[in-house]
Amino acid sequence: MKHLLKMGDLSRKEITDILNLADQLKYEHAHHIPHPMLAGKSLGLIFQKASTRTRVSFEVGMYQLGGEALFLSARDLQIGRGEPVQDTARVLSRYLDGIMIRTFAQKEVEDLAKYGSVPVINGLTDYCHPCQVLADLMTVREYKGKLDDLKLCYIGDGNNMANSLIVGGLTVGMKVAAACPEGYRPAVLNEIPADAPFTLTESVEEAAADADVLVTDVWASMGQEEEAAVRKKAFAGYQINDTVLKAARSDALVLHCLPAHRGEEITDEVFEAHAAEIFDEAENRLHAQKAVMVQLMADETKRTL
Ligand code: CP
Ligand code: NVA
Repeated sequence: MKHLLKMGDLSRKEITDILNLADQLKYEHAHHIPHPMLAGKSLGLIFQKASTRTRVSFEVGMYQLGGEALFLSARDLQIGRGEPVQDTARVLSRYLDGIMIRTFAQKEVEDLAKYGSVPVINGLTDYCHPCQVLADLMTVREYKGKLDDLKLCYIGDGNNMANSLIVGGLTVGMKVAAACPEGYRPAVLNEIPADAPFTLTESVEEAAADADVLVTDVWASMGQEEEAAVRKKAFAGYQINDTVLKAARSDALVLHCLPAHRGEEITDEVFEAHAAEIFDEAENRLHAQKAVMVQLMADETKRTL
């Protein structure tokens, strides 16, 4: 693994190795066992969009690994004034040991990796959110003890989260069902093999039937704020609520990458009833990303990939 640009870059073994390392790092952190595996290394964090979890977990994660993180707002970088990504990539590669980027176009992330010479981590694009889905899979494995053969149900917008959950879930051996309205279907649909255990429906109850894990996300993602009213109409009914929960298994987990819009994609009652796993999921961003950073940036002896 040289970069983490999208979920589809990872094999099942690579995901398992990351999750195993993440579990180890989480255990060590809880037991105050230092793990300075990235001592002396620097990671740049380029943000073209807002963030709470991604920024803080990468900054704290690098600190805990003995390295440092630099928050680089696109508002302040020359890239925000039009300096080409090809040049930014080559310059930053001379200073940094890795770059995380959150932006709009997937191509910008791919170009950063193409023209730079250090590992690039996708911290969210319009197309995908692989760091979040690694944390989601880690959380499911913690609660269920396995991933294989579980049914994952995604309800709502066929957005970056939907794309990464579908690809990630199928890669690790889960059955995946998505309920998305027409016009808002996930872009990864044409990449899914015909024989994959995947179903797409407009029926929320059908997708949720016997699910082990229910996941949803906002109806209007960052950059789509002007479409919010139109989207609110299109997604009416695509909500995780008590009726949907009844269709799922009685021990189903409910996950949300956050931030959540209570009363839209999820009811306040369901959110609060499942706050334990939702905030474990948020915490696991830290551990899963530390594992990714070690796999990409540490010396050979400290990696498993
Ligand atoms: N889930 C997630 O990526 O959160 P932030 O937008 O706060 O980073
Ligand atoms: N789909 C959301 C995820 C936020 C973490 C967005 O892109 O805004």
